[in-house]
Amino acid sequence: MPPSLRLPARAALLSRSPPEPGVPRVPPVPPAASPPPRTPRPRGLAEMPGPSSAAFIFELLCRGGVRRLHEMQVHGRARFGPLWKARFGPVLTVHVAEPALVAQVLRQEGPEPRRALSCPWKEHRSLRGVPGGLLTLDAAAGTEGVIRSVGAVLALTLVTMALPRPLLRLVPAPWDAFCHAWDQLFAFAKGHVDRRMAEVAARGPLAEGDTCVTDLLAQERVPVSSIYGNITELLLAGVDTVASTLAWSLYELARNPGAQAALHRELAAAAATGGVTNGDSATTDSATAAATAAALGRLPLLRAVVKETLRLYPVIPANARVVPSCDIRIGDYLVPRQTLITLCHYATSRDSRFFPAPDTFLPERWLRHRDSDDTPGDTPGDTPGDTPGPRHPFASLPFGLGPRSCVGRRLAELQLHMALAQILLRFEVWPEPGGGRVRPMTRTLLAPGAPISLRFLER
Ligand code: HEM
Repeated sequence: MPPSLRLPARAALLSRSPPEPGVPRVPPVPPAASPPPRTPRPRGLAEMPGPSSAAFIFELLCRGGVRRLHEMQVHGRARFGPLWKARFGPVLTVHVAEPALVAQVLRQEGPEPRRALSCPWKEHRSLRGVPGGLLTLDAAAGTEGVIRSVGAVLALTLVTMALPRPLLRLVPAPWDAFCHAWDQLFAFAKGHVDRRMAEVAARGPLAEGDTCVTDLLAQERVPVSSIYGNITELLLAGVDTVASTLAWSLYELARNPGAQAALHRELAAAAATGGVTNGDSATTDSATAAATAAALGRLPLLRAVVKETLRLYPVIPANARVVPSCDIRIGDYLVPRQTLITLCHYATSRDSRFFPAPDTFLPERWLRHRDSDDTPGDTPGDTPGDTPGPRHPFASLPFGLGPRSCVGRRLAELQLHMALAQILLRFEVWPEPGGGRVRPMTRTLLAPGAPISLRFLER
């Protein structure tokens, strides 16, 4: 009998981290930043401003724009306003760079949001006849080798997306390298899944309270091909995202000794009261580790440092949605069904109207000043009470929102909190002398444009 996928398991996978009690998943947009007044008759796409296709392609391919896509959001916002259209390779996309309009799009995304019309990741799956995972789902080697393959997939995604197919057939190297990198990732994931499944099969039925993910998946009879697809895509989604964010947060803390000292004080105080241990896996049992994780998640400055890092360096600088089955209104425009919308998160999270001194690392901007009369605002789905309100709740959305939001968010935050706590409790972090400013670059994800060099001095 072919293994089947039980719907409850799938539903559980797709429902994201539940909002904290009392927090609506999509909070009301504060009046100060509500959408601009509507014109009586919405305008069509033909009237929307934007660069000519030739100018955009020239910028992308000849002036290194693919690596500067995040900056092009900011320039596009300054030149064309909050909405503009551009052709990315064969695909026309509408850019949205205003939090209120981002909110308008996300509120119309429908129950089964999609992120792409077509994408080279999906083309690889259909070419190889392997199923994808959550990342490519349409709602309707060794570790070093894996890291290299993740890097290659990320480096080649935008190129394979932007180049027209006939050109890729003429110059097949990027496409071949891209497929090879995915094949390596699939092979790595398959090896691990097969080994684990064999262990599970050898062990017999699940024990009471046995909640290991592999065992649960085996119980639920998810097709093994689907497990391969999902594990492979989790490898991609979970490696560079957390690594880049950790690198950026240490980089900013090293350059901002005041912020680092304040965070160290917060961590040391938590350690002194026994809420936080050093997390050494050799000496920490799982209950203590869980208690430490929970205690770290309640430290306001630690959370603020991660939020501020993701505001300055949103790992996914632009997210996307495909307009569902009917035309939707965005600002003054009516955008036809099946149009690709690019949500310009980098531009909105560096917008000085929502984040004064937008290029400066100021974790304290995320701390609630209980004495002031801040508007109660919060990142959608986030813990209430640690975020001030002068900004827009959709201005910084590093994990996305809604049914397609990041499934690994809590895991990512946990890893970042644990790693920062362990590093800062033991070391002072300083920039390497002579190490200059490191700027971000787009490599599908937003990554450091140069190596980040730091010194770790034992405390
Ligand atoms: C700092 C770390 C991370 C950031 C900033 C991040 C951000 C994001 C964003 C913006 C999305 C798209 C959300 C949307 O379309 O609304 C996403 C999707 C996703 N992320 Fe993450 N992510 C991170 C870490 C992780 C980790 C550690 C994992 C898993 C181990 C993961 C797994 C996924 C998956 C599977 C999806 C696709 C979900 C779907 O389409 O249903 N992410 N992430």
